[in-house]
Order: sequence, then C-alpha cells, then structure tokens
Amino acid sequence: VTTSSPRSSPRDAGASTFRIRPARRGDAEALATLLKELGYPNAADNQTVNWVVSHPEIEVIVAADGADRPVGMLSFSHRPQLRMKGRIGTIDELVVTQAWRGKGVGKALLQKVVERARTLTVKRLELTVHVELGPPPAPFLEKCGFASAGGTVFRYPGFDFMRAPSS
Ligand SMILES: CC(C)(COP(=O)(O)OP(=O)(O)OC[C@H]1O[C@@H](n2cnc3c(N)ncnc32)[C@H](O)[C@@H]1OP(=O)(O)O)[C@@H](O)C(=O)NCCC(=O)NCCS
Repeated sequence: VTTSSPRSSPRDAGASTFRIRPARRGDAEALATLLKELGYPNAADNQTVNWVVSHPEIEVIVAADGADRPVGMLSFSHRPQLRMKGRIGTIDELVVTQAWRGKGVGKALLQKVVERARTLTVKRLELTVHVELGPPPAPFLEKCGFASAGGTVFRYPGFDFMRAPSS
C-alpha cells in the first residue's frame, strides 16, 4: 500500500506544471536528492524507501514535473493516540527543490495532506520544525494555515541518527 490519496492532481503554476502523486519505489534516488537538499545526506536508500512506501501508517507524496520527476516531497505519518481517542497526523519531511520554490509546490503538498487528514478524521495535524536545519519557514507555514504550537523537543542522544553513537 502506498497511499489511498487521489492518483494525481495536475496544477499549473504559471509556466511550471506539476502534479501531486504518491511516491513509489522508483522515486528512491529523487527522494534521496530532495532529502539531501533538506540537510540529510545519505537518506532514503532503496531498502528504506520500500519499507516506508509499504508501511500502512506512512504516506509519501511527491510533486512531479512534466517528465514525472519529483521536485518536491512530503512524508506524512498517522497513528492512534489514547488521549485523543483517534489519530494524530504528523508531517515528518517536507522539501521542494530550490529551482521549484515559490511556485506553489509546497502549498499544494500541504493542501493534499490536509485533505488526507480530513479523510482520516485525525484529531490533530502537526509539523515539527527541526532547529538543526535553520530557522523555520514560518511565513510559508502560516500562509498554508499552520500556527505555531510552541513546545520543546527533548531527545535521547544515544538514539539520535544525527549523532555518533555513544558507548
Ligand atoms: C519551505 C518550502 C517547503 C516552501 O515551498 P515552496 O514550494 O517554495 O512554497 P510555495 O511556493 O508553495 O509558497 C506558498 C506560500 O508561502 C509563501 N512563501 C514560501 N516561502 C516563503 C518564505 N521563505 N518567506 C515568505 N513567504 C514564503 C509563498 O509566497 C506563497 O504565498 P502565496 O500563497 O500568498 O502565494 C521550501 O522553501 C523548502 O523546501 N525549503 C527548504 C526546506 C524547508 O524549510 N522545509 C520545510 C520544513 S517545515
């Protein structure tokens, strides 16, 4: 199962046309390139892409250009929470390649996820901004309807993939 989102939705952003579609196994290289741009070199090898796109609680969507090459990607996960008596949805990764920024791609990816979250009747939809990647794109997120929820993330360094393992 990749995702039950609609198969595609063409968008015309001026001269640049793109469509949103579910990611598939063949997108592994493009996803790795996009995640590298986000600040994660060595991300998304074939094995991990296969794992993620067949996971029942994760959906990865891409914005594909006229040649069907991903120019933006978003991963979304959802799972039930006791206190919510329902699902929480989280946007885990979102990036648009530099040349395609400012053309509505990021907004279209988020809009697709909001639609999907509505279908899943999630009780909360969140996006975590990782401080190591630089300042959050607050104006973009606000234009897309998100509001800051504050909060602080505590991490256990022994399990942090960004740090060398401690003994
Ligand atoms: C943030 C990011 C995903 C935005 O994607 P994008 O495709 O360039 O954004 P869009 O073109 O869809 O912009 C949507 C709206 O936000 C505005 N916007 C986008 N980036 C903005 C910025 N840096 N400052 C102010 N407004 C911005 C656009 O002007 C547009 O406004 P409009 O709806 O009034 O026309 C993209 O810049 C990116 O990948 N950045 C690097 C990685 C990153 O920050 N990821 C997000 C982690 S939360």
